Amino acid sequence: MSPLMTLLTFTILSFLLNDVAVISSAGVSAADSAVHGEKETLRLSKLEWNYHRISNNHPSLLSLETRTERGAIILEMQHRDNLLKPIRDWNQRLQKHLIDDDIRVRSIQSRIRKRVTGKSQVVSEAEIPITSGVKLQTLNYVVTVNLGGENMTLIADTGSDLTWVQCQPCKSCYDQREPLFNPSVSQSYQSVPCGSSSCNSLQFATGNYGICGTNPPTCQYVVNYGDGSYTRGELARDSLLLGNTPVKDFVFGCGRNNRGLFGGVSGLMGLGRSDLSLVSQTSGTFGGQFSYCLPVTHAQASGSLTLGGDTSVYRNSTPITYTNMVQNPQLSTFYLLNLTGTTIGGVALQSPAFGQGNILIDSGTVITRLPPSIYSAVKAEFLKQFTGYPQAPRFSILDTCFNLSGYDEVNIPTMTMNFEGNAELSVDVQGIFYFVKTDGSQVCLALASLMYEDEIGIIGNYQQKNNRIIYNTAGSTLGFAKETCSFN
Ligand SMILES: *[C@@H]1O[C@H](CO)[C@@H](O)[C@H](O)[C@H]1NC(C)=O
Ligand SMILES: *[C@@H]1O[C@H](CO)[C@@H](O)[C@H](O)[C@H]1NC(C)=O
Ligand SMILES: *[C@@H]1O[C@H](CO)[C@@H](O)[C@H](O)[C@H]1NC(C)=O
Repeated sequence: MSPLMTLLTFTILSFLLNDVAVISSAGVSAADSAVHGEKETLRLSKLEWNYHRISNNHPSLLSLETRTERGAIILEMQHRDNLLKPIRDWNQRLQKHLIDDDIRVRSIQSRIRKRVTGKSQVVSEAEIPITSGVKLQTLNYVVTVNLGGENMTLIADTGSDLTWVQCQPCKSCYDQREPLFNPSVSQSYQSVPCGSSSCNSLQFATGNYGICGTNPPTCQYVVNYGDGSYTRGELARDSLLLGNTPVKDFVFGCGRNNRGLFGGVSGLMGLGRSDLSLVSQTSGTFGGQFSYCLPVTHAQASGSLTLGGDTSVYRNSTPITYTNMVQNPQLSTFYLLNLTGTTIGGVALQSPAFGQGNILIDSGTVITRLPPSIYSAVKAEFLKQFTGYPQAPRFSILDTCFNLSGYDEVNIPTMTMNFEGNAELSVDVQGIFYFVKTDGSQVCLALASLMYEDEIGIIGNYQQKNNRIIYNTAGSTLGFAKETCSFN
């Protein structure tokens, strides 16, 4: 088997809102959903706000299985339900989730402005509604890898680059489920010297220079996520095991001072495009190619993260369509795309903001943010086609809301996003509405407007669900196909 053919699939688990209550919406499987012309049916009566039961059968966090499929090494991961607390107030949680998402987007915009203008415009702490200190809950897809012999469950984030884990001895660490990474028990752990090329790569990857530690002169890193969350520690190398595939001398952050709850996971996997990202560091093995299928957020739903470029292991139900990544030197760590059009219920919208090459795709942002001119066109067409339903007050960033509590099912207009080269992302019927209230009395169009026309748009994970999203960094292409996500 050629190294380039090596594939690796992880189960991606969606733990909505950092906890384990889930929307069960089995009613919208392919067999169940009726397509009425340009609309699809969402069965509201089948939406249930479930809780995972605490199970005694899974005393440990993870019970992993590995399998191989057509050259793919597939790593399965179970849900972390047994160790997570049930959600008591769903409505409050749903609403907080949106506020956190807004903080993430502001932090991305601030990083972009810093790159473009060279000036730092840090999100002011005063603007941040600090509640429980729980941050980055919006990064809700996790995978497990093995680092230096220890299993580590990490958030998969295409919007950042440095992979890091919480590390012993820890000055300040948030609570996590797995034991902290312990460098002293790893035979292969090495700290990265300051002044080395990896240390110098930090500036572009994280926005902060590596700092020289003293005696020995190690490379100290800082990553600020702009929402008050951060990780600080020592840049290190160790053996990473992705399924059965070893990656020697993988560069990562050994985080000794970390803030933000990060959902109880052990750290973060950076899937961005800079030299330090996992994608770049493993390009010799996986050819700089990976893909994922993000599951809908109901019980037992899982998806997969696949490293490698063999498309035959996907279970896509429509052909893959590809678009080119937009080349922008200042934003080259992000996956930037050229959105050329959008349809609502099959009706193509017009906007001067199409074709500007200024929207990025991110696995960590929830709600898609569109330039105001595109958003207003989407909203107007949606309201034209989705008529006769009582409106409800706006919530946070979502301004188009309905009271659907009196309905068992609704027919909602389909949505596609079109990209240069005739690529099309077809938004799943469950990616159109966000439930602010579980009883359906406040259900909102799950899209939001950017503040300004010249800000960078973001395609969030809510609209990526049940699609195979294929990233080819070597060929600078991105592919889309419909797929009902599952691991098994
Ligand atoms: C680590 O993951 C492997 C599967 O990749 C599993 O077999 C093993 O039991 C896990 N180890 C621990 C300590 O959980
Ligand atoms: C985006 O695609 C359109 C249509 O193919 C093209 O005319 C335009 O130049 C592209 N814009 C960028 C920034 O690549
Ligand atoms: C929503 O609609 C239901 C049924 O039509 C109605 O009983 C209820 O009062 C409405 N709720 C709100 C918050 O308007």
